[in-house]
Amino acid sequence: MTAVTRVLVLNGPNLNRLGTREPEIYGTATLAELRDELGAAAEGVEIDLRQSNDEAELIGWLHEAVDAHTPVILNPAAFTHYSYALRDAVALVTEAGIPVIEVHLSNPHAREEFRHTSVISGVATGVIAGFGFGSYRLALDQVLRRP
Ligand code: DQA
Repeated sequence: MTAVTRVLVLNGPNLNRLGTREPEIYGTATLAELRDELGAAAEGVEIDLRQSNDEAELIGWLHEAVDAHTPVILNPAAFTHYSYALRDAVALVTEAGIPVIEVHLSNPHAREEFRHTSVISGVATGVIAGFGFGSYRLALDQVLRRP
């Protein structure tokens, strides 16, 4: 297997408001801080962290992951619960043998009923939820195959 040199870290709607959005659930740190934290944990690996409120843009980035063979850490945010289009795009990536790890800051299963369903998990390589930025760090360790 060739060494991973770049990881796409994709974030869905409203995650650009991290830092001030429901801090009692999501904490007070920002996406910029997440990028720094992941970068520090993965020397020599480019952390290509992006965020969009637009389903089509996220789908385009997943297509890019297929073409460039780039592993993905994905927080689909609210799209988790209902976007079949995003699910199909995730399936394109994993069917190409490229890992997509679904992550959540909170534990959706401990929250409102509508958050208990993920239409993404069934086609993701794995799911990590409930550890704040730790969810992304654990996913990164797995993508880089670290113990
Ligand atoms: C989230 C959980 C989702 O239910 C919610 O819509 C989000 C964030 C999380 O990271 O905990 O926007 O994906």
